[in-house]
Amino acid sequence: MYKDIDLDNIDLTQEPPTQEPQRQYYFMAKMREIVKEKSKELGRPLSAVAVTFGCQMNAKDSEKLLGILRKIGFEIIEDESADLVFFNTCTVRDNANQRVYGRLGFLHSMKKKNSDKKIALCGCMMQEPSVIEKIKKSYSFVDLIFGTHNIYKFAELLTTMYTSERMVIDIWKDTDQIVEDLPSERKFSFKCGVNIMYGCNNFCSYCIVPYVRGRERSRNPKDIIREIEQLVSEGVVEVMLLGQNVNSYGKTLEEPMTFAELLQEVEKIEGLERIRFMTSHPKDLSDELIQVMKNSKKICKHLHLPLQAGSTKILTAMNRRYTKEQYLALAKKIRTEIPDIALTTDIIVGFPGETLEDVEETIEVVKEVQYDNAFTFIYSKRTGTPAAAMENQVPEEVVKEGFDKLLKVVQETARERVSRLEGQVQGALVEEINEHDNSLVTGRLSNNTIVHFPGDASLIGKIVDVRLKECHGFYYIGELI
Ligand code: 5AD
Ligand code: SF4
Repeated sequence: MYKDIDLDNIDLTQEPPTQEPQRQYYFMAKMREIVKEKSKELGRPLSAVAVTFGCQMNAKDSEKLLGILRKIGFEIIEDESADLVFFNTCTVRDNANQRVYGRLGFLHSMKKKNSDKKIALCGCMMQEPSVIEKIKKSYSFVDLIFGTHNIYKFAELLTTMYTSERMVIDIWKDTDQIVEDLPSERKFSFKCGVNIMYGCNNFCSYCIVPYVRGRERSRNPKDIIREIEQLVSEGVVEVMLLGQNVNSYGKTLEEPMTFAELLQEVEKIEGLERIRFMTSHPKDLSDELIQVMKNSKKICKHLHLPLQAGSTKILTAMNRRYTKEQYLALAKKIRTEIPDIALTTDIIVGFPGETLEDVEETIEVVKEVQYDNAFTFIYSKRTGTPAAAMENQVPEEVVKEGFDKLLKVVQETARERVSRLEGQVQGALVEEINEHDNSLVTGRLSNNTIVHFPGDASLIGKIVDVRLKECHGFYYIGELI
C-alpha cells in the first residue's frame, strides 16, 4: 500500500539507496527537481501523456506510471503534443505493433518542432528483441525504452533519460521481484484494477504473453487486501482482480492459497460492494471457486472464460489442455450452479491447421453455451511461439470465411442472451456521462452488461436500481427507479 511520501525529506546529496522502493522515492525526488528546473526554463508546467494499448493489465501499469509522473510534478494531459509522451505497448497480435510504428512516425514530426519533447516506450512489445533492433535502426529519435519487468524503476529510468543525450534502453528478460508501495493514479474514483499476480506459465502455443510477461508470480494476499482496504477508504466500491490466469493464484506463494480463498478474504472488506476478476483459464477453474461465486454477495455475476477454439484437435495443438467436451461440461456446471451468470469468451479463428469444419465445432460451442459476449480474433503469427513454426498456416480467405460465419452466430446468440433481462430491475454502477448524449449516464450491471439511462453526474460512482427497458444488442436503455 502506498502512503503518500514526502519528497522534501529525501536528502539528494546522499547516494541513492539500494533498497526498493526507497531507491525509487529518491529518484522521484531527484526527478521532481529536474521537472521544476525545466518548467522554470520553459515558463510553463511540463506535460505528459500516456497512450495505452492492449489489456487491463497495461491500463493498470499506465496508472502506475502516471501516478509517478504526477508525483514528480508533470501535468497529465490527453494530447500527444505533451512534453513527455509514453506509449505502453501491446504485442498480443501484430496489428497492435503496427499501430505503434504508425504513431511513432507522427510523433517524430512533432519532435522536430519541439526539441524538448521526449518519447518513451514500454510494455509487452518492448520485450521482443526484434522490436528493439527495429526501433534502434529506424526510430532513433525515441528517448527511453523499458519493458514489463522493470516498470517500478520508472522514476530512475526517467532520471537517466533526462540526464543523458542517448537513447536509454533497459529491458529485463524476467524477474521474480514484486515491488510494492509505489504511487498510482486512478482513472475512475469508484472502481479500480488490482494486480493479484503477474506473468503466465501456460504457454498456449499461439500466445506471446508468457515470453513478454515472464513467469507466474502471485502477490502476497496481505498486500492485496491492504491495497483494496486503502482503495475502499478512498471511495472505491468495485475492484477488478487482475492476472493472466487468476485461477492459478497463490500456487507460488510461500504459504500457498487458492484464488477462491483470496476471494473470500476480499469479500470481507467492509464498504467494498463489487468484485470482478479477469482472466480465468478453464483448465484451472475449481468447484471451490464456483461455490464461492455462488454464495457471494459481492462477486459479480460474470465470468470471462476463454474458449479459443471449439475443436479438440485445435485445442490440443493450442496446448489449452482441455477438450471441447470438458469445456462444455464446465460451462454447464457453472450455469446450473449460478443460472443468472453471464459468460463471455475469447475465440481465435485461423490457428494453423484449422479447417472450416473445426470452425463449425466452435460455432456449436457458441450456440450451446450462449455467451453474453465473445471477443473474436483472427489468428496472428507471433515470432518465437510454437504455433509460428507450424507449417499448416491457414490461407487468408479461409480464415475470413470462418471468421465471418462465427461472428454472425456470436452476435445472434449474444443478442438473444442479453435481451433476457428486458423489463427487470437491476443494480447498475454508474460509470460516466454517456459519450454521445449528455442527458444519459452509462452504468454497468453485475453481469457486465451496459445500460444507458437518463441521469446526471451526481450519480457517478453510485450503484442505483435501473429498469431495463429496451435491449439494443449488447446494451440496454433503461430508467432510474
Ligand atoms: N492471435 C490472435 N489472438 C490471440 N490472442 C492471444 N494470442 C493471440 C494470437 N497470436 C487472444 C486470445 C486471448 C486474447 C487476450 O487474445 O484469445 O484470450
Ligand atoms: Fe496467453 Fe494462454 Fe497465458 Fe492466456 S493463459 S496469457 S492465452 S499463454
